[in-house]
Amino acid sequence: MHATGFRDLLLKPELERAIADCGFEHPSEVQQECIPQATLGMDIIGQAKSGMGKTAVFVLSTLHQLEPVDGEVSVLILCHTRELAYQIKNEYTRFGKYLPDVRTSVFYGGTPAKLDQEILKNKSTCPHIVVGTPGRIAALIRDKSLNAGHVKHFVLDECDRLIDELDMRRTVQEIFKATPHHKQVMMFTATLSPETKAVCKKFMQNPFEIYVDDETKLTLHGLQQYYVDLPSDKKNRKLSDLLDTLEFNQVCIFVSSVARAKHLNNLLVECQFPSITIHSGMKQEERIAKYKSFKEFTSRIIVATDIFGRGIDVERVNIVINYDLPDTADAYLHRVGRAGRFGTKGLAISFVSTPEDQEVLKKVQDRFEVSIPAMPETIDISTYMNA
Ligand SMILES: Nc1ncnc2c1ncn2[C@@H]1O[C@H](COP(=O)(O)OP(=O)(O)OP(=O)(O)O)[C@@H](O)[C@H]1O
Ligand SMILES: [Mg+2]
Repeated sequence: MHATGFRDLLLKPELERAIADCGFEHPSEVQQECIPQATLGMDIIGQAKSGMGKTAVFVLSTLHQLEPVDGEVSVLILCHTRELAYQIKNEYTRFGKYLPDVRTSVFYGGTPAKLDQEILKNKSTCPHIVVGTPGRIAALIRDKSLNAGHVKHFVLDECDRLIDELDMRRTVQEIFKATPHHKQVMMFTATLSPETKAVCKKFMQNPFEIYVDDETKLTLHGLQQYYVDLPSDKKNRKLSDLLDTLEFNQVCIFVSSVARAKHLNNLLVECQFPSITIHSGMKQEERIAKYKSFKEFTSRIIVATDIFGRGIDVERVNIVINYDLPDTADAYLHRVGRAGRFGTKGLAISFVSTPEDQEVLKKVQDRFEVSIPAMPETIDISTYMNA
């Protein structure tokens, strides 16, 4: 295939400059295929594997098309967690740095709605682009602080997650109905079942579709994956061995509940590991502070629940440990995709201690045709650390 550059995508010069500042050299496949369609205003369903730059598809194409009108929200992006909303807002800031007239705000629960209302009320602060989680956005629309009547671009990131859960879907539908009939709709995810795909398409008109038709192609090839078979009461010992022996830049450790996140993090801190935790049991302000601290490399280890399992992009994470295995193969795929992003190397290690765990691991291997062997005595560093 001939190497396309971002120049070939014919984006505004202000965007080209920002892209160059980010150090992006070539668009990824999903970017190359979707951006030209998206900038024409087509509806898009974009499925592409973790870490391949789906965010830039909608951030660049909406910034490209936007003609900011003060007091009007033109772009609305929904996603399933507050930290992801915050991250997407920062991507708008990063790519929009040479578009000084464009304002972006992020709105999510767990913070005073009053602040959001103030920002929206005032013509000089009202954002042109709003990123948020469905609950807060719907509430702001209901109390008439957010006028969705000028929305021209409506985006769902991690769309299957927003659609599959019925409560979430209802809220998304409510927001959708508050926007004008004529608008561009774009949806993105790494995992999309045929049923969910059909629901997504009901929100769209003749979308440009890009799918990973064969699930085996969702496997990240830079990622080494292993499991460790062990009884539950041996997990702590094993984890501390791994953290002592493996070389890592940053590591994400996933657990199955808030209580387990707190407990495991306390234990790691007592053992002098530079660990922090993030989960829904903490105040929202603190959650964002932890996200930032991890993203900015102030902490090297994070113990997280599934709120960190999708979409979160931390460049230096090269190891993911499933201290508790998730319930589904999809969740596994998203979690391990926190390492090995944009074609980099990484390592994923999963603790397997119950028959249910074994079942999930088997499903992952069957569906994605990836072999996940038992972890060997020693792992060659060069297989999971970028040179
Ligand atoms: N063309 C590019 N060149 C270099 N880096 C890129 C390019 N596009 C995106 N990236 C970087 O790759 C990383 C992953 O991008 P992004 O978070 O958008 O992936 P994603 O497809 O949304 O993954 P997920 O399914 O996990 O949400 C980000 O750090 C982003 O800055
Ligand atoms: Mg993403």
